[in-house]
This record gives sequence, C-alpha cells and structure tokens, in this order.
Amino acid sequence: MKTLILATRNKHKTEEIQQILGTGFKCLSLNEFPDAPPVDETATTFGGNATLKSVGLARWLLETPSKLSGIAGEAYVLADDSGLEVDALNGAPGVYSARFAHLESGKPGNSPDGENNAKLLSLMQGVPVEKRNARFRCALALTPLLKADKCSSPPCEADELEVATLIFEGACEGRMDTKPAGGGGFGYDPMFIPAGYDKSFAELGEDVKNRLSHRSKALAKLQQHFAKQS
Ligand code: IMP
Repeated sequence: MKTLILATRNKHKTEEIQQILGTGFKCLSLNEFPDAPPVDETATTFGGNATLKSVGLARWLLETPSKLSGIAGEAYVLADDSGLEVDALNGAPGVYSARFAHLESGKPGNSPDGENNAKLLSLMQGVPVEKRNARFRCALALTPLLKADKCSSPPCEADELEVATLIFEGACEGRMDTKPAGGGGFGYDPMFIPAGYDKSFAELGEDVKNRLSHRSKALAKLQQHFAKQS
C-alpha cells in the first residue's frame, strides 16, 4: 500500500482522487496536517503550481520526521493543480480558476464556487454555442518522501525534491453551458458539459465524471508509472 499525502484541503478533490485510485493507495489530505503552511501559487502553468505545492509540502513534512511517524512503507506527496480554460475568454480562468471572482477585488484566497460560476456566466452571456468550447486541465506533481536516511547531505534541499518530482497531465474537452445545472461535483462542474454529452458534470454524477475527467486521465498516467515500477 502506498501513502499519498495530498497537498489540498479540498474535500471533493481528495474524495475523487481516492475513488479513482482505489484501494492500492491510501490518500491523506492536509486536513490531517492542519499546521502545514499555505503555498503561494505564483507559477503561470498548472504544472508549475502543482510542483510548488508538492515540493513545498514535502519539504515541510521532511523538516520534522516525526510528522511522518505513523506512515509505513512508500509515501509520496501528490499535488493537483487544475482549472478550466474557456476559448472565448482566451483561456481564462486558467490557473486563476480557484480565485476567479476575487481577481479584480484583490480579495485574498479562493472565491466561492457560486461567485466563480456567476462571473463566468456573465462573461459568457451572448456567446453562441459553437464558440463555447472549453476544457478542464489537471497537472499532478508527485514528490517522493525520501526517508531521512535516504536523503543526501544536506538533507532534502528543495531542488533535490524538485528534481525527484514527476508531472502527470490530463485534459477533458467540452463546452460551457448557458446556466448552471446539477447538484454533484464541485467548482465549475454545473457549467461544464463534457464532449459527447448534453448534461453537465454536476448532472452526470461521479461515476461518469471519474471516467472522463482531466483528473482521472492524469491519475491513469500516475497509475501506469507505478505499474511500470512493480
Ligand atoms: P486548485 O485547487 O488551485 O487546483 O484550483 C482548482 C480550481 O479549478 C477549483 O477551485 C475549481 O474551481 C476548478 N476545478 C478544478 N478541477 C475541477 C473539477 O473537476 N470540476 C470543477 N471545477 C474544477
């Protein structure tokens, strides 16, 4: 059993990742490490931000080995950075998906999903269906948590962790609906209709979403990576 410490407090993301990966992996979230410091997502790509989160958390965990004392076997940090790219908005909200509604006001932190969707809806008003193409993107950064005796000296420098970090990416094409629909999922799910369907992710439910999603495609690559190793 491999332990993945997910660099997120997002309950939905954690549940989705655990469900897609299944029982061979034990996923812990930052809710089990409440003191973990926040990481500024200052990169301009999903892969860059995923790496910042993954390496930042790995470094913090390795600073005090007792934080990992309850974990047996192989352990990794896994960071997901994901978001929505809308063609009619030149790729926005992109890496700013989580804080889209707060961008102009400069309010710190992520904005509520309802506000992000309302902003998107108003920016997309009057855009015809053939110009509503969009996609979700996901980058996963996987950083091995080298046990202290396996670290070179000086132990676990940030760039050593960065070099050891692998990126897995996935995308899911679709289009933006003209109004939110459905009660499932999170984030922009009520507004996003995956290609080949006429219902939103929030209406289609988790089984369908987890077969099609950007996150499941990136996680499939991560699983292939582990399968090759064993
Ligand atoms: P992150 O936590 O910084 O990666 O922000 C990701 C943001 O992108 C979320 O807060 C959502 O707004 C959006 N997002 C990412 N993945 C999904 C998804 O699967 N469904 C809906 N929205 C998503």
